[in-house]
Amino acid sequence: MAIPFFFLLLLSVLSSPLSSAASNTLSKGSSLSVENTNDVLISPSAIFSAGFFPVGDNAFCFSIWFIEPFCRTNCSVIWMANRDQPVNGKKSKLSLLHSGNLLIIDAGQSTVWATDTASQSWIELQLHDNGNLFLYDKEGGRVLWQSFDYPTDTLLPQQPLSKDRQLVSTRSRTNYSSGVYKLYFDSDNVLRLLYDGPETSSIYWPNTWLLTWDGGRSTFNSTRIALFDSLGNFSSSDDFTFLSLDYGMGAQRILKIDFDGNLRLYSRENGRNKWIVSWQAVSQPCRIHGICGPNSLCNYVPSSGRRCSCLPGFKANDHSNWSLGCEPKVNCSCSTDEISYLKLSNVEFFGYEYGFFPNYTVPMCEDLCSKMCNCKGFQLRFSRRYYPSNIPYCYPKTALLNGQYSPNFDGDIYLKVPKTASLSSSYRHVEDSRLDCSVEAVVQLNRTYSNGHENGTSKSVLWFACGVGAIEFLSIVLVWYCLIRNQNKLGAINQGYFCIETCFRKFTLSEIKTATKGFREEIGRGGGGIVYRGILSDHRVAAIKLLKEANQGEEEFLAEVSTIGKLNHMNLIEMWGFCAEGKHRILVYKYMEHGSLAENLLSGALDWKKRFDIAVGTAKGLAYLHEECLEWVLHCDVKPQNILLDSDYQPKVSDFGLSRLLKRGSSCTVNSRFSRIRGTRGYMAPEWVFNLPITSKVDVYSYGIVLLEIVTGKSPTVLEMEHQRLLIWVREKMKGADEAVDSWIEMIIDPKLEGKYDKAKMEILAMVALKCVNEDRDARPTMSQVVEMLNSAHVPCMSLSN
Ligand SMILES: *[C@@H]1O[C@H](CO)[C@@H](O)[C@H](O)[C@H]1NC(C)=O
Ligand SMILES: *[C@@H]1O[C@H](CO)[C@@H](O)[C@H](O)[C@H]1NC(C)=O
Ligand SMILES: *[C@@H]1O[C@H](CO)[C@@H](O)[C@H](O)[C@H]1NC(C)=O
Ligand SMILES: *[C@@H]1O[C@H](CO)[C@@H](O)[C@H](O)[C@H]1NC(C)=O
Ligand SMILES: *[C@@H]1O[C@H](CO)[C@@H](O)[C@H](O)[C@H]1NC(C)=O
Ligand SMILES: *[C@@H]1O[C@H](CO)[C@@H](O)[C@H](O)[C@H]1NC(C)=O
Ligand SMILES: *[C@@H]1O[C@H](CO)[C@@H](O)[C@H](O)[C@H]1NC(C)=O
Ligand SMILES: *[C@@H]1O[C@H](CO)[C@@H](O)[C@H](O)[C@H]1NC(C)=O
Ligand SMILES: *[C@@H]1O[C@H](CO)[C@@H](O)[C@H](O)[C@H]1NC(C)=O
Repeated sequence: MAIPFFFLLLLSVLSSPLSSAASNTLSKGSSLSVENTNDVLISPSAIFSAGFFPVGDNAFCFSIWFIEPFCRTNCSVIWMANRDQPVNGKKSKLSLLHSGNLLIIDAGQSTVWATDTASQSWIELQLHDNGNLFLYDKEGGRVLWQSFDYPTDTLLPQQPLSKDRQLVSTRSRTNYSSGVYKLYFDSDNVLRLLYDGPETSSIYWPNTWLLTWDGGRSTFNSTRIALFDSLGNFSSSDDFTFLSLDYGMGAQRILKIDFDGNLRLYSRENGRNKWIVSWQAVSQPCRIHGICGPNSLCNYVPSSGRRCSCLPGFKANDHSNWSLGCEPKVNCSCSTDEISYLKLSNVEFFGYEYGFFPNYTVPMCEDLCSKMCNCKGFQLRFSRRYYPSNIPYCYPKTALLNGQYSPNFDGDIYLKVPKTASLSSSYRHVEDSRLDCSVEAVVQLNRTYSNGHENGTSKSVLWFACGVGAIEFLSIVLVWYCLIRNQNKLGAINQGYFCIETCFRKFTLSEIKTATKGFREEIGRGGGGIVYRGILSDHRVAAIKLLKEANQGEEEFLAEVSTIGKLNHMNLIEMWGFCAEGKHRILVYKYMEHGSLAENLLSGALDWKKRFDIAVGTAKGLAYLHEECLEWVLHCDVKPQNILLDSDYQPKVSDFGLSRLLKRGSSCTVNSRFSRIRGTRGYMAPEWVFNLPITSKVDVYSYGIVLLEIVTGKSPTVLEMEHQRLLIWVREKMKGADEAVDSWIEMIIDPKLEGKYDKAKMEILAMVALKCVNEDRDARPTMSQVVEMLNSAHVPCMSLSN
């Protein structure tokens, strides 16, 4: 789409002081013609322009856009009157009639749009510097109609989104007509994003599995209004708030629902022409619905964007339109003996469950699905943490929609396939059915860190958003539980709910004192405080950390701690609550029976398999911190002492976010000359020493050292093995290895394993470790790449289950 050069012309006209062609008002009886390129309104300070905007071949929409130097190909349109009914390039006009009605006439004939206003007094159409176009009754001194009341896909600062109004995305980057994604206030007063496709429609933000109060949303305020101010503070009547990453004065901002379904806040320094994403609603592009159609999977690779692929055994319906999805190559018969199941790991499908079956094993679930002719397969997830825990949950699916591959997802899908077909090798390969859905690239968040002026509150709001995503599984479990359990089981459900609401809570100092019997049993030190063992009044065993040098005010502490408490992942330590009384700042965690990875490596309690699982789990926990939270949470102190092991030797990363509570936050997230170095000797990335910008790659480095320690059993902090020497030693062994003789891994492996290990797996750990400890931080993988590398070594991505 090419926008005629009249904008440029217009600009040059504007910048000339002699010209006074364009005005910001249109009076009664006048009109703006599509044919006259000078027929535009310009806001008083020449920030916005309103006029006919070309949207296609001989198709124009009356629009408001930012006046910008390079608008020729790419104007930032913020409003359109007739987006779904463009008018002809001949004889079309916008007229303000004497009756007071403002309308758009197509080709001199039909009215395609009107404000339906009426007034006999002196009224004017005005374009304001805030981007609002309004009909103003000069005599009555009131606004008859304003564009702020009818947003299209964009909100400007101070422009409210109210009930009965919605933002609707455009169809594509270049087609401005109404698309399929909507932001609106739902009937329960919650602000949501909806995919409203031709065949299906579903809500994808906030996560539907999330109970609203867990998402921090309130359903009780029926005002239903949301807006953001010029500093970048968004707040909505359902208690959803966020601050722009670049919170503060001096930037232009727009909130826009993009054609790709994400809601983003864009900022731009005044006078610059590049918009930068300063907040977005959905951090994982594949979570947005309606991308890949039925029977296909969305996979997001940061370098190449989103991609769709058909499930094995399916073929694409239309390679040019991915929303049509895929259809089976061979139809599955209904007969039980002709059915088999194909397992796809780390694959998740949204919704369309026939039901929810706790404590079902794979054979039980297969049996269940086989008996139902329209069951397309089932999702199986384990729940370790939620009530009832440690049992598998089975969800038979009647349709496979909104599928996504996500390395962090802790569950599998079992696809129903014909037995005969399952034996053929074609079922194991999916690459031939790749669809390319990266036609429209996904906008990336600028992930560099903002500089020094860190504002505690702003961060905590962002953190909060992470928590929102985190609790999803808990919620789906509970919601389903409610739906299918009968009345007399209600007690159990209530207990479950009770837990969500109170699992994270504020403790009083006297409760803590009772629990710890007066801080008697010390179980550890470091990480900013002393840890005591305690038994809570409900008999849960807790690790209670007494923070020293916590010099935060109570409110600030509260804000931080509750956001940290909301970060929720099976490989992160579970925080049960906190206590802030007087000078005391105390954190209450779940007690981990098996202590830290450091102790276990030392005692030789870990066989190779446990070590490998710990490596994978730790990587998942860190990947979650980095990526699902949009890199806002760096750990900064990854070391074996901070990786705790539960009763199943599952790793739980602990002490994340602690730097914030100890008010050292700025030294970790921001590269400042005067910052105090964080982290622990032996695990610190070279960036700390060379004063380079601190990114999530510092955690990757530390993780790499931890991996080396897991493989070699040698700690980089004990004197004879300082970490540089550990590295050099491992690298030398690898290079010097003579393949014919011995594997290099044999030379470095922890002697405590007594030769009992899987050579290939340990080699992969060591290789990944060496990648992670690259001196060049850009050459290090991200944590989710690490998860992927380890996963591909661990379980084959796809394997036949029977
Ligand atoms: C935009 O998409 C709509 C719906 O698919 C279509 O009817 C219209 O012609 C498209 N407009 C342009 C300018 O391509
Ligand atoms: C339009 O602007 C966007 C973002 O500002 C940019 O990514 C895109 O390349 C631009 N398109 C053209 C045709 O200049
Ligand atoms: C943002 O706006 C809300 C509501 O207007 C207000 O309560 C909150 O204090 C503001 N936050 C900041 C950091 O200004
Ligand atoms: C409802 O939300 C509006 C706008 O955010 C706010 O002004 C009002 O105080 C809220 N009402 C209640 C009862 O919380
Ligand atoms: C793709 O298919 C859907 C569903 O039939 C349809 O609504 C949409 O317009 C198609 N898109 C394109 C680009 O053809
Ligand atoms: C499978 O069944 C559907 C609907 O009954 C039919 O449209 C389709 O052609 C069948 N596919 C094959 C490969 O037989
Ligand atoms: C799950 O099932 C097993 C055997 O089928 C049973 O022993 C166990 O108690 C069940 N667990 C729960 C939580 O219902
Ligand atoms: C990202 O933000 C930084 C700091 O605000 C800026 O210097 C850099 O140019 C931005 N990068 C991109 C790609 O927008
Ligand atoms: C943080 O925000 C508050 C309130 O908006 C402001 O007064 C303060 O100056 C900010 N602090 C920094 C360091 O920018």
